[in-house]
Amino acid sequence: MTRIIYVNGRYLPYHDAKVHVEDRGFQLADAVYEVIEVSDNSLVDATRHLTRLWRSLSELSISPPMSEPALCHVMGQTIRRNRVRNGLVYLQVSRGESPRDFLFPDPPVPPTLVCLARATIPAQVDQRAETGIHIITMPETRWKRCDIKTVMLLPACLAKQQAHAQSASEAWFVDAEGLITEGASSNAWIVDRSGRLLTRPLDNTILPGITRRTVMDTAASLGLVVEESPFTVAEALDAAEAFITSATNTVMPVIMIDGQRISSGTPGPLCRQLRRSFARVAEHSPVGYVPSKLENQAFAP
Ligand code: PDD
Repeated sequence: MTRIIYVNGRYLPYHDAKVHVEDRGFQLADAVYEVIEVSDNSLVDATRHLTRLWRSLSELSISPPMSEPALCHVMGQTIRRNRVRNGLVYLQVSRGESPRDFLFPDPPVPPTLVCLARATIPAQVDQRAETGIHIITMPETRWKRCDIKTVMLLPACLAKQQAHAQSASEAWFVDAEGLITEGASSNAWIVDRSGRLLTRPLDNTILPGITRRTVMDTAASLGLVVEESPFTVAEALDAAEAFITSATNTVMPVIMIDGQRISSGTPGPLCRQLRRSFARVAEHSPVGYVPSKLENQAFAP
């Protein structure tokens, strides 16, 4: 259970954790976020997540709310105060509170920072991975800057809701050329019949997933071939294996797409291997410490 939430400098009891109604995140979705896995008291791939957060902020000209080491401290405190050993930490930064206006506040106002930590039960996620998940496909409905991790998640909510109504747990978006972009909250992968791993190359149509990046490293460490190349729904249906990647799932096998079984309809061997090996390759920083890769960097104010 989430007990304590960090909001703009204060650790508040759950029911007191509030932002102003004129916060630009609330009124205009003028905010970005990150979700980082907490595994056995460590933050997984914190350096990469914080680097992406800084990029999202910079793309939208939102000032970082504090330095990266200070943010690691806040995350550590929030995780500890909620006694989370395994779960996730959620960070959200908005442009701040200001009377509603499309233009950015001038002069700028301090950004709003929220941090919450929530426990999950790893055995439940592992159980889901043993079975594999069902997904559906649907036309892409999102904007042309999906590379920025903004809180503008209504298309993703609608897609997930539609998937849920069809007894599936994720939706893959399909672009105008019939190529899969990514999942509503995950990156999309297949293994073709010659054993190559395929995932869409990075551009403005998808989020540069941190798990995607680390799975690429994991695949390389296992001697597997990864091709960053887009694939169609037909290619996915004909694949040897399919899976999704995200911080909350790591590698999650997909066994059914649009009601059709993928291969034998059970999680495939490469997918299982990647899931097993992921933790060995990912960076683990003990909660409360600054990842060593960030320690000696000079940070924006
Ligand atoms: N979602 N693509 C989209 C659209 C996502 O929302 C996410 C993550 C990913 C995977 O990125 P990463 O590997 O960095 O988690 C890809 C998070 C988990 C969420 O919104 O809850």
